[in-house]
Amino acid sequence: MSGVWAVLVAAGRGERLGGDRPKAFAALSGRPLLAESLERLERSEWVEAIVVVASEGWEEPAILLSEELGAGKVRAAVTGGETRADSVRAGVAEVPEEAAVVLVHDAARPLLGADVIERVIGALGDGWDGAVPALPVADTVKRVDGDEVVETLERSELVAVQTPQAFLADVLRRAVAGGGEASDCAGLVEAAGGRVRWVEGDPRLLKVTTPEDLKLVSSWL
Ligand code: CTP
Ligand code: MG
Repeated sequence: MSGVWAVLVAAGRGERLGGDRPKAFAALSGRPLLAESLERLERSEWVEAIVVVASEGWEEPAILLSEELGAGKVRAAVTGGETRADSVRAGVAEVPEEAAVVLVHDAARPLLGADVIERVIGALGDGWDGAVPALPVADTVKRVDGDEVVETLERSELVAVQTPQAFLADVLRRAVAGGGEASDCAGLVEAAGGRVRWVEGDPRLLKVTTPEDLKLVSSWL
């Protein structure tokens, strides 16, 4: 499929990681965290162009990093918003009309494999508006209310969802135009009535949240 634009969301504060800069610029084996996913999107033959969404004041460093990496597919670095959905909206606004597919990825998941990009993009079509990588849940998941366990969910019906997430561009544009909130893009597309499927994820796509995660991911590099 041609015309795949990637939106790399890197505009979070990284409060749980701590440190003196946004998480996307925290050091992972001596380079900004963002460098890893940016380089892998640049290298992917599926991806035609990239929009980076950065925190206010970090757009220029994002462009400089792209230049250093020779990431010529980067078309823009735009300012993110208060929530992840706002940041996705800002990124999608830079995607031109002719793009057929948008691939949204969290900069916080540095170990982006070529195979997972292929799986999500390849799963589109046949009536599917979106595709997300997901892993089976190993633990038993319960609904709680304060200290009380309210309900045990059926584990076989649950998966844990990651990024990159691929969408037909028109469907994602309509879903983000609603102004809604969701912790991932698929949530916005589902709320707008889109059909989303899941494909096999990758345990190495761990989202860096805490300093321990950063150490773990760096040991996998
Ligand atoms: N993100 C974003 N804009 C926001 C919030 C999040 O672009 N307003 C991005 C982050 O940069 C990250 C991804 O969405 O790549 C997943 O978010 P998360 O892991 O929660 O990162 P942060 O929000 O930065 O971390 P924290 O919640 O600990 O502050
Ligand atoms: Mg967050």
